[in-house]
Amino acid sequence: MCGIVGVIGKDNTTDILLKGLEKLEYRGYDSAGIYVNNQDGKDFLVKEVGKISELEKAVTSDVQGLVGIGHTRWATHGKPTIENAHPHFSDDNRFYLVHNGVLTNFEELKNKYLSDVHFNSQTDTEVAVQLVDHFAKQGMDGETAFRKALSLIEGSYAFAMVDKEQPDRIFVAKNKSPLLIGLGDGFNVICSDAMAMLEETHEYVEIHDGEVVILKKNSVEISKLDGTKVQRGSYTVNLDASDISKGTYAHYMLKEIDEQPNVMRKISQNYIKNDGTLNVEKDLLDEMNKADRLYIVAAGTSYHAGLVGRNIFEKICDVPVDVELGSEFGYHMPKLSKHPFFIFLSQSGETADSRQVLVKVNELNLPSLTITNVANSTLSREATYTMELLAGPEIAVASTKAYTAQIAVEAVLAKALGEVKGLQSAKDFDVKEQLALAANGIQSIVDAKDKIKKLADEFLTGQRDAFYIGRGIDYALSLEAALKLKEISYIHAEGFAAGELKHGTIALIEKGTPVFAYVNDGVGASHTRGNIQEVEARGANVLVIASKKYAESGDQIIIPEIDELISPIISVVPAQLIAYYASLARGNDVDKPRNLAKSVTVE
Ligand code: M6R
Repeated sequence: MCGIVGVIGKDNTTDILLKGLEKLEYRGYDSAGIYVNNQDGKDFLVKEVGKISELEKAVTSDVQGLVGIGHTRWATHGKPTIENAHPHFSDDNRFYLVHNGVLTNFEELKNKYLSDVHFNSQTDTEVAVQLVDHFAKQGMDGETAFRKALSLIEGSYAFAMVDKEQPDRIFVAKNKSPLLIGLGDGFNVICSDAMAMLEETHEYVEIHDGEVVILKKNSVEISKLDGTKVQRGSYTVNLDASDISKGTYAHYMLKEIDEQPNVMRKISQNYIKNDGTLNVEKDLLDEMNKADRLYIVAAGTSYHAGLVGRNIFEKICDVPVDVELGSEFGYHMPKLSKHPFFIFLSQSGETADSRQVLVKVNELNLPSLTITNVANSTLSREATYTMELLAGPEIAVASTKAYTAQIAVEAVLAKALGEVKGLQSAKDFDVKEQLALAANGIQSIVDAKDKIKKLADEFLTGQRDAFYIGRGIDYALSLEAALKLKEISYIHAEGFAAGELKHGTIALIEKGTPVFAYVNDGVGASHTRGNIQEVEARGANVLVIASKKYAESGDQIIIPEIDELISPIISVVPAQLIAYYASLARGNDVDKPRNLAKSVTVE
């Protein structure tokens, strides 16, 4: 969701910006733009609606310079138009600025300081750049004007700004929205995430909320808003450009589905030592052991992985668990237990809805853990403890391998915590064996892709609605399966507790309605079979995905043996593939579905 790149000190600035923006495409956007300045009085602003390829076509060969900033915009204030695309500029064309985030008091600032200024766009961002210019016109230098504007601006932002009068620097600031500095030899870069600049550097420096950075080609000056200097070391990002390439795959989503067996092996190797003991931080387990309730906070697919996790923690660790949507919980925090422990699940580690809960949790001095795929992400830095998903970069907007990795890591953590508590349930749960079964089970499903493609065509061609149903663990799974289908195929899909259908939703079932029924939950299996009959009697076209143990003749997809608690790791895969093939059949952009962003950095 909105991506920022910037570079100073290289002579192929335009190239670096465009390549960086391409790498950020996965985050979701609807327009893009660059500003390049040759530090010799000549500058260029190019913006386009639509894909980066459109922007590339619009960039002529003379667009060259030594400093530049670029942006992919995911519209919040104002439609996706060229005027609303970033970079935005002040009305005297002195300052050029890109922004990720949402300014909450922009109307107020506009009315108070900028009533006589001509605005080119409907965005909140333009207020920021006009405000800097307003203070510059009062006689402040660029940096002072930038700091003055920041002191008045409320909301979330990552800003990068170039002042035409000082093109030897980029002004940078951050509050709540992600932004990194990348260090080079005789040059420096900025980016919303490191993937955008891996071809330039692997060495990065974090910027914290409330900090300002003056970036020159040979220096990085970080300070607080009040000017106090900040010293911070760099860290190395251990990713290769090849980790983020599609290889021979047509889509990242299919590549990421196929990577899941390996992700299971990697999690097993990393968290389970050769002697079978678990590699989980002792302090984390001690802290969790003191908790009388675990609160899992997440959004979207990660929330669904949390629902599966609740069952795992409750059964293996005998501890009550609440699973909460960050977007709700942060604003309507219920009465907490006496000794809560918070677990944040987030593939990106940047989701603003979850982050605002973590900010409150930290204000309350409560302990927390972030389970994330991105080391050094905001949620990872700000939580007391971190565990990594080790799934490798997930580029497709539809989350697949992060979901299965989240369940696997939850299982490892539950086993470790249960052992600390001395529980038999933990001793009986052989997590190493289960992750091996998970890897093999996923492999057998992805090997049957052709069959699943046929089923997707048979059940979904020409359909507008579809339902996933199940009980217990299969209900949690149905929510994720339905989300996958709707977000990339645009078929209206709902996940339902199978027993709830007859309380209203069954009215929607008519001749030919596709219903995907999960039967992996031992306690619910026979009842779900009853619900299958109810929908079949009303004309539904039912596809059953059942575990070997509960399968009946005629079931179309059989899930190989695995402990029920973590069965969604395998049984989600047919749903991922069904969604993929349905999206493909409709000619959709599988990896970048409409209106969506990979990393949702606004609340
Ligand atoms: O990065 P996070 O896991 O915090 O992201 C949460 C959701 O935005 C994400 O899972 C979203 O629902 C995906 N598009 C689902 O495929």
